[in-house]
Amino acid sequence: MEFYFAPLEGITGYIFRNAWEEYFGGADKYITPFISPNAKGCFTAKEKRDILPEHNQGKKVVPQILTSKAEFFIDTAKKLKEYGYKEVNLNLGCPSGTVVTKKKGAGFLSYPKELERFLEEVFEKLYQKEQIEISIKTRLGMEQEEEFYQILEIYNKYQLKELIIHPRVQKDFYKEPVRSGFFKEIWKNSRAPVCYNGDIFTPELYQAFTREFPEIEKIMVGRGILVNPGLLKQMKTGKPMEKEELWQFLSRLRQDYEKEFSGETPVLYKMKELWFYLAHSFTDYTPYLKKIKKAGRLAEYQGIVERLFMEQNLREW
Ligand SMILES: Cc1cc2nc3c(=O)[nH]c(=O)nc-3n(C[C@H](O)[C@H](O)[C@H](O)COP(=O)(O)O)c2cc1C
Repeated sequence: MEFYFAPLEGITGYIFRNAWEEYFGGADKYITPFISPNAKGCFTAKEKRDILPEHNQGKKVVPQILTSKAEFFIDTAKKLKEYGYKEVNLNLGCPSGTVVTKKKGAGFLSYPKELERFLEEVFEKLYQKEQIEISIKTRLGMEQEEEFYQILEIYNKYQLKELIIHPRVQKDFYKEPVRSGFFKEIWKNSRAPVCYNGDIFTPELYQAFTREFPEIEKIMVGRGILVNPGLLKQMKTGKPMEKEELWQFLSRLRQDYEKEFSGETPVLYKMKELWFYLAHSFTDYTPYLKKIKKAGRLAEYQGIVERLFMEQNLREW
């Protein structure tokens, strides 16, 4: 099995990827949180920091682009090629209202004709002329899973590097159950190799998945790693994460954010965002999480985290 680390905008930037790789690791590929190109045609400072080769040493990293304008996608991919990237990923899954109304992410799935024109141009100008490989991360549609029949027919016209399928529709957001039955029905119809993504949160869920889909060779994991950073390691070796390695990882992460940002507020914000997921790895975490959310200073945050580490145990997954 190949394991991919899912892009999680706001969380899995290069600082997180590097710290996580050092303490836990086990991802064969990382897709970056999306780059959203605009008419100016240049990366934001944050986007540039995230894709700089010196920030992504020793890992297979694939930048992701969120747009429905072929011209923007092509320009961005060519710039990424100059930084050494040979593959780019198209985001056709983001369910956020502001993205979808701009016809981007999952919103683009409602316009199959335009999507096909987009892919036609992109494959001609990038794949054929520039030898840049293109993969897609997709939902099944906007409203109904049946939309995917037509969408897959379009994808199958092109030489995709791979197709990462998150088997939900836009209106499911992340809450409704993944549509495993439908996924089972359609995944083999993809001409491109398929990577499965969605709700692999524990080693048991992973085992159940491999029993149900023994032929799938790639899975992408996102929130499960934020809850339990040792998840991939545990899935591979059976060995659960230890408190000490989690502690070290968090210290490194905080230090690296402190170097990146000026002032403690953005650092605090970043750490709090992670704790929204990570807290679930501890027994009886609720009162601690409430206090972490309320903490106004880093020192206060640190005190609560220290108490949580001392007073509670890691959950057994
Ligand atoms: C906070 C957050 C940010 C996300 N950012 C991105 C993104 O930038 N690009 C993308 O393709 N998917 C993004 N996703 C979706 C995840 O990559 C993934 O598809 C989703 O979480 C389902 O996988 P999981 O159940 O393993 O977490 C995001 C999801 C969350 C919760």
